[in-house]
Amino acid sequence: MPESESSQRPLLEVSKLTIAFAGKTAVDSISFTLAAGKTLGLVGESGSGKSATSLALLRLLPLSARFTGEIRFGDRNLLALPEAEMRSLRGRSIAMIFQEPMTALNPVMRVGHQVAEALLAHHPRTPRAEVRARVLAAMHEVGLPDPELRLRDYPHQFSGGQRQRILIAIALINRPRLLIADEPTTALDVTVQAQILALLRELRRTHNLAMLFISHDLAVVAQACDQPGDRIAVMQHGQLVESASAHDLFRAPRHAYTRRLLASAPTMHTDRDRPLAL
Ligand SMILES: Nc1ncnc2c1ncn2[C@@H]1O[C@H](COP(=O)(O)OP(=O)(O)O)[C@@H](O)[C@H]1O
Ligand SMILES: [Mg+2]
Repeated sequence: MPESESSQRPLLEVSKLTIAFAGKTAVDSISFTLAAGKTLGLVGESGSGKSATSLALLRLLPLSARFTGEIRFGDRNLLALPEAEMRSLRGRSIAMIFQEPMTALNPVMRVGHQVAEALLAHHPRTPRAEVRARVLAAMHEVGLPDPELRLRDYPHQFSGGQRQRILIAIALINRPRLLIADEPTTALDVTVQAQILALLRELRRTHNLAMLFISHDLAVVAQACDQPGDRIAVMQHGQLVESASAHDLFRAPRHAYTRRLLASAPTMHTDRDRPLAL
């Protein structure tokens, strides 16, 4: 396949993904694609199926969940992959950050050790000196101050925003191609939220990272999806009701539900020069 064609093939292709819990449909035949280096925002109210979708991508749904459809990542269908192969992809090619950094970190393990573990899980033979250098570089890259000193601290010695930075360091240390960020800033106050969004924007550029950015807050999603080629998909009751660039979505939302989401996201249009076409 010629270079230009292969580079246009999406990194992630989800087709007719359907997920049910105890016979109740939570995700209803959704399809979307994501190209390398781009961000897809997934927005919708609580319970609309966003987290179920992100867990399906990592095949981390509870055993009781039933799912059908296809999730192509590169040339593989993740839903059909043997568990051993899925384990080697998880945390290496596809990484994830969640809403509550405290629950994702081990409270009794030094943070430097936790970042090192993420690396060693996939590269167990990395020499000690190199592990230390990589951990320090990762902590430095996510903007943690004095990594040499803080390496030996425990999660509770960091602020909420710093803990999310540690999780981002853990997520990125194996240089994944796709980052799934499920409500990564929801537990943070607005100032810290903006700092984390700025960090993710910087990292996606330096790592050519594709990102699935999930939030119930359309204003936050719009900030995460502000680069050319980024798109926002709107989810309601398990279905994708609309998908567009942030610009088009705000200029001309097609769906009544999107218009309602826009109406409840005042931070995005208070400073715009013309009124929304509602
Ligand atoms: N482990 C589970 N067991 C049963 N139902 C679940 C489970 N996880 C999610 N659900 C249901 O699936 C639907 C979608 O949930 P979720 O994906 O968490 O929504 P969102 O992330 O958009 O808030 C909801 O109705 C929720 O109650
Ligand atoms: Mg959720």
